[in-house]
Amino acid sequence: MIQPIYILGIESSCDDTSVSVVKDGKVLSNLTISQWIHKKYGGVVPEAASRLHVESIVSLTEDALSASGIDKYKLTAIAVTKGPGLIGSLLVGITFAKSLSLSLQIPLIEVNHLMAHINSLFIEESAEFPLLCMTVSGGHTQLVYMKSNTELEILGQTIDDAAGEAFDKTGKLLGLPYPAGPEMDKRAKNGSTRFKFPIAQVPGFNFSFSGLKTSVLYFLRDSIRKEPDFIENNLNDLCASIQDNIVEALLQKLKAAALKYEVRSIGIAGGVSANSHFREKLLTLSELYSWKLLIPRLSYCTDNGAMIAMSGYFKFLKSEFTQDDFMPLARYPLT
Ligand code: KG4
Ligand code: ZN
Repeated sequence: MIQPIYILGIESSCDDTSVSVVKDGKVLSNLTISQWIHKKYGGVVPEAASRLHVESIVSLTEDALSASGIDKYKLTAIAVTKGPGLIGSLLVGITFAKSLSLSLQIPLIEVNHLMAHINSLFIEESAEFPLLCMTVSGGHTQLVYMKSNTELEILGQTIDDAAGEAFDKTGKLLGLPYPAGPEMDKRAKNGSTRFKFPIAQVPGFNFSFSGLKTSVLYFLRDSIRKEPDFIENNLNDLCASIQDNIVEALLQKLKAAALKYEVRSIGIAGGVSANSHFREKLLTLSELYSWKLLIPRLSYCTDNGAMIAMSGYFKFLKSEFTQDDFMPLARYPLT
């Protein structure tokens, strides 16, 4: 085996362009440009996202390489997100990765974005199996049982909205800017959970969040009729109550699955795992049940190139390379 192994990881599946360099499984650099333009539209505009990826990807890669202290000619392979995600956005990362791999004459490795979120758990920590990973992002809510690094089983997933979407859509009803999750998290710190919304009772380990959005909508409509400034006057409490509902829905399933499958480690990944209330409550549960908790640092929770480079490194070790005619996939199941 060549030593050391340098992998360049490129992520462009949604509204973050991110590039990272990993040396033998250790992150040397990880730079991300988040596209703020979508705030003004209240959601990701795919065409705008693709254009902004085009504008940033070359200079971001140059910056990630110089931050890592290595020259591009030292790279061993290039890993890139194949999907799931927005086709136009994925295409920018993939086209760039293909060109670079051709010009440098180094192998290309395709990466599943959901697998990469799971691998973000192992960037700075090692796990004890069996492990339960909950991937909670703007596009996905998935509970995955891992017997080992390679043996995965999806126990459950959302049947409608993702947990991040639940934050973003209810936040929009409250007038918060997109993405609403971080803002709701911040405001909830000064609020009380006095408003109660129902938690969907879905069989097994699946989730449903579209009912929450509807009950928040009707509750706000009725409350505003009685008190026109209801949202402004109760914003922090509304944020705390909605956040608690989403977190409770996630934790109920996580706890039930962890007990049923007798896991020893629990990991959370994806943008919503940045939520401080989720982290605190999970920490308390983990202490109670003596689970080892794997929570990536914030920059590895949201979409990032390091998790792609890391996944690329694991695939490189197994010689899992990609033909350079592969195409992006909007839908790309984990298993
Ligand atoms: O993983 P990610 O960066 O992109 C996707 O693959 O979707 O996740 C973005 C999602 C958004 O829905 C955003 O509102 C949510 O993660 N998010 C949060 C927090 N930070 C990001 N949700 C709740 N609390 C946070 N602190
Ligand atoms: Zn993601």
